[in-house]
Amino acid sequence: MKPRPIFSLLAATVVLALAVGLLRADEKAHKLTTVSTRKMADSLHAIIAADQRAYAELVAKSQGAAAERLPTHAQQLRQAAQAIQKKGAEFSYTLRSLTPINPNNGPQSDVEQTGLDFVAQHPEENYYREEELGGRSYFTAVYAERATLASCVECHNQHAGSPRRDWKAGDVMGAVVVRVPLEF
Ligand code: HEC
Repeated sequence: MKPRPIFSLLAATVVLALAVGLLRADEKAHKLTTVSTRKMADSLHAIIAADQRAYAELVAKSQGAAAERLPTHAQQLRQAAQAIQKKGAEFSYTLRSLTPINPNNGPQSDVEQTGLDFVAQHPEENYYREEELGGRSYFTAVYAERATLASCVECHNQHAGSPRRDWKAGDVMGAVVVRVPLEF
């Protein structure tokens, strides 16, 4: 017996609806599992910046001998970054400046140099580039570090090792550089 056209039409509609449903579900799952490299770098930076801020506020509140015993924000950032690397993290981050107290915090690649120049001139913007280091490609993001607390300016202007002593509130003092590998 020949199937009635109405049933064929119904069956075709059901199959089509199922296919569309599956496609939509797949699209949704894809959206949930894919994070762009730039978004990943921005998210890492948001955490680093919030941590640095909280730590700088804590140090600013502590006084006298207690404050002197605390590591500086730069040491705190380096220790955390190194601990994460030891645990096998693929991404990395570091603090940089064109006029650093610690000479090791100066720019160490062309992208870092250009990124520091860029954020110094465009403090509201971030700098993103791909760079090749040791034969591996990285997505490198550079975020301005501004003097948002009075203590940033005071400590950097007074520090014996500081090559610059005319920092003012709001100045771009350097940058946080975040690197995410593009090949695994
Ligand atoms: C109590 C002192 C102190 C305060 C407060 C302080 N810094 Fe620093 N900062 C340092 C020292 C010391 C270093 C270098 C130390 C190192 O790398 O181990 C440093 C490093 C840096 C660097 C890396 C370049 C360099 O100079 O070596 C940047 C950028 C920076 N600080 C920005 C800031 C900002 C922005 C604030 C405020 C939110 C701030 N600092 C508050 C002492 C301070």
